[in-house]
This record gives sequence, C-alpha cells and structure tokens, in this order.
Amino acid sequence: MRNTSRLCSAKPIVTVNGRFPGPTLYAREDDTVLVKVVNHVKYNVSIHWHGIRQLRTGWADGPAYITQCPIQPGQNFIYNFTITGQRGTLLWHAHILWLRATVHGGIVILPKLGVPYPFPKPDNEVVVILGEWWKSDTEAVINEALKSGLAPNVSDAHTINGHPGPLSNCASQAEKTYMLRIINAALNEELFFKIAGHKLTVVEVDATYVKPFKIDTIVIAPGQTTNVLVTANQGSGKYMVAASPFMDVPIAVDNITATATLHYSGTLANSPTTFTSTPPQNATSIANNFIDSLRSLNSKKYPAKVPQSVDHSLFFTVGLGINPCPTCKAGNGSRAVAAINNVTFVMPTTAMLQAHFFKIKGVFTTDFPGNPPFTFNYTGTPPASLQTTNGTKAYRLSYNTTVQLVLQDTGIITPENHPVHLHGFNFFAIGKGLGNYNPKKDPKKFNLVDPVERNTIGVPAGGWVAIRFRADNPGVWFMHCHLEVHTTWGLKMAFLVDNGKGPNESLFCHLLKTFQNVSSGAK
Ligand code: C2O
Repeated sequence: MRNTSRLCSAKPIVTVNGRFPGPTLYAREDDTVLVKVVNHVKYNVSIHWHGIRQLRTGWADGPAYITQCPIQPGQNFIYNFTITGQRGTLLWHAHILWLRATVHGGIVILPKLGVPYPFPKPDNEVVVILGEWWKSDTEAVINEALKSGLAPNVSDAHTINGHPGPLSNCASQAEKTYMLRIINAALNEELFFKIAGHKLTVVEVDATYVKPFKIDTIVIAPGQTTNVLVTANQGSGKYMVAASPFMDVPIAVDNITATATLHYSGTLANSPTTFTSTPPQNATSIANNFIDSLRSLNSKKYPAKVPQSVDHSLFFTVGLGINPCPTCKAGNGSRAVAAINNVTFVMPTTAMLQAHFFKIKGVFTTDFPGNPPFTFNYTGTPPASLQTTNGTKAYRLSYNTTVQLVLQDTGIITPENHPVHLHGFNFFAIGKGLGNYNPKKDPKKFNLVDPVERNTIGVPAGGWVAIRFRADNPGVWFMHCHLEVHTTWGLKMAFLVDNGKGPNESLFCHLLKTFQNVSSGAK
C-alpha cells in the first residue's frame, strides 16, 4: 500500500513495486517470462496478462477462481509463460475485486531480435496508460454499490500515466516520429484519445498489426491497446494531449477530460499550449470512424488466419437485468445484475481450471447455453421479466474446433457498449451491425479476408458483433465485459477447451509442473 495524492487529496492504494501505474514489462516475442508476485497487502491478489495467449499455460493466466486460487496475504506465486507468436503492446492488471484500478501496467513485446516493424521505425517509443481515479477507496465504491443494488459512482477523474492534469509531459523533438503505445487501463470507461495539431497513424491494436491509417481521434475500451505513430511536424510549441469518455448512450454524464502536454524541446516554459476540444461523450460516429477503419495487416509475413469454416455457431446476448434483493434498500428491494444468455455468472470458490484438471465435482457445470433461452426484440421492447438466472457455467469446446460467436447487445435496461474480452485467444471481428442480428442476411457481409484481430471488442449499443476464433488452446478461459462494474454484476462466462494434441506437447504436463509450483508455495 502506498499513500498517493491526486486531486488534492491522498489515499492509500495498492501498488506494484511502489508505483502507480505499475512497471512496464518488457519482453521479446518467444521469450519465456517469469514474474514472482509477493503479496504484501491485506487483500487477496492475482495478476492477469491481458492479451497474452498463454498457449498451453492456462495456469499462468491469472483470473482469480477461474485459473488459480488468489494469492493470499503473505503468500507468493510465480507466473511462468512463453510469449508465442505475439509482439506489440498489451497490459497486465490485477484480476480480483476492483484492484486493477491501481494495480496495472504496460506489457511491451518487441519483435524477435533483428525482425523489423512492418512500418517505418519510430525514433522513440512512449507508453501511454489511460486510467481512472476515485478520491475514495475503490473497494469501498463497489462494496457500497453492491449493498445498495445501484450503479457505483463514476470516477472523479480520468488519468494519463497516472495523472489527471497536465503533469505528464511528453517531450518530443521536431521532425522525429514517436510510437505511442496507448493502453486503456480504466475500470469502467471507454476513452477517446487525441493530440492537438497532430494526426495519429494507427499501426497496431491489441498486439496485432493493422493496415496503417491516419486519423485525428482514436477510441479505446478498457483492456484494449493501440499503437500510433506521431510525427512531431509542427515546428515547435506545446500541444494538448487529451483523453475523454465515450459512451454511445450516456447513462452517467461524465465529461472529465484527462490532459497531458506534448511539448517540443526548446519551447519556452511559459509559451501557451495549443488546445484541442474533445468529442462529445456520445460521439458514436467518431468512434465508428476509427473502429470501421481497422483491418488486419494481412501481409505475407503476418497473414490473417481467419477460420473459413465454423464448427460451433454461438449466439450470446449481453446486457443488464434486475434481480430481487430484499436487503437492497436504495434499490427498492432489487439489484442491478448483468448476464450473458440470461445467465448471471456466480464466481466459484475453487478455481475452475483446478476443478477441471483434478476432476473436482460441483464447482461448475458445462451447460452454458449456446443460444439465449428465449428470443425477443433485443434492441426494442424488453421482455416481460428482467430477471436472470444464476449459474457457474462453462461452454465446452473440443480442441482445435472453430467458433463463430455473435454477441448481441440487449436494451433490457438500456443499450450499452460492452467491451467483451476473451482470455487465451485472439479473435477476428468479422462483422458488426445495428439492431437485431439477422442470421440469414448478415453473414453475407462478413469480412473473412482481413478483419481486425483483437482480444477485446466493443459490442455496439443496440447492435451486435460477430467474431471467429480457433479453440487451439486447452484450458478454462474467461470471457467477460471489461467494464469492471459489469463483470462484478455477472457479465461473464468461461469456455472450457478440452485437451488435444497440439504442436508442442501435452498441456497437462506443463500444468502439473506449474501446479506443483503453486501448491509448494512457489519459493
Ligand atoms: Cu483484462 Cu479478464 O481481463
């Protein structure tokens, strides 16, 4: 814990190595990474390496109660994984309670030695971490919300590299090109990001290369990462860097903009900063302008391996609901919940991966529905009952099968953009649309050639996205909305991918090694 002061008041926060945001993890493609996490705080912790594929190293993925038991106060744990076939920017964050508010940092995976970027080499690189700040204790914020049944308070500020105001200066030299590795580590807010007077050339999202394009404003959801090139071609001066919230249908009005300054070296300290306005909170067209421009690089060297056939065709509704809660006074006897296919996920008390591996019964079931239990006009009139069912359910996939998953937003309470994150895989975003998904017409428009490849995708408010991936990674893999409040409310599920013979060896051998590590307290 470290007393940290923002917005003129201090509070103790959980930090990693005393830093907020935490240290950036640097590695190269194909490196094996060992991270020893020692828990010195009073909370249980676990760390997730968001976007790292964890091929056959499911035990190192990190979500508490899904792939591991949390690391208890005074205990430690060694995460041991190899970064296979990935390079780019990702993030690590705590994966328990709301600790990731302050327990997060960047992951920079450089290409293998001697392998260049598929775009002009930047002169310099800067990690830019966007976040949120509450003046009060974040655990208290969510606990209060759970007690009342109502939504938690929105944060008091957005931050850039841990600061709400112009404290974080990004110095730059004229005519040089910088690569910004932008990470959204906020809990509950999608963010616009822009720099006054400078275009951003987008080259990568979620550690996958994209066809480069120039744009003024990008949008980035919690858990997503975006690399952009910026050329300091304005001669001199100071320019505002801004991050502001995006919500297509604003539920809570939140206009706080976090700012930093890009200043050219040699610029006088007292010279004025060129200002940029930020998009309105509901500027969906600005967001779509960015999202719809994303295409996989799909070059010879980095082909887009889009599954062309489908073994499992799934349709999941994502949305909110209302369940009875006699003790929720502020919520008038009911509480807000969230669900996928009307199942509100209940966290188990034994890690699902351990339960699967050691055949422990009664931890979870594999009857997660591949389709919603009832159909209705998802973006129109809500169904008569807003109630969901509780369950700890996984959807089972055979090894190496292909999956097409349509994620449909429901307007049961309100339509809302849900950034859905899948652990253990990258997927291709092959289609997206407004209204109800039409299984007859919409697949005709799917992009099966160069769709963007990601690990976290915004399901448009009042619309749907279709993704495809290959289940080539045995283990138990969490999938959830990366707005932490929705995860807390139950917008989550897991895929169980059976073991199968892969290119390397057997999963279980590796699992066992790692598990022994865990049970012996990993010295
Ligand atoms: Cu970045 Cu399951 O989270």
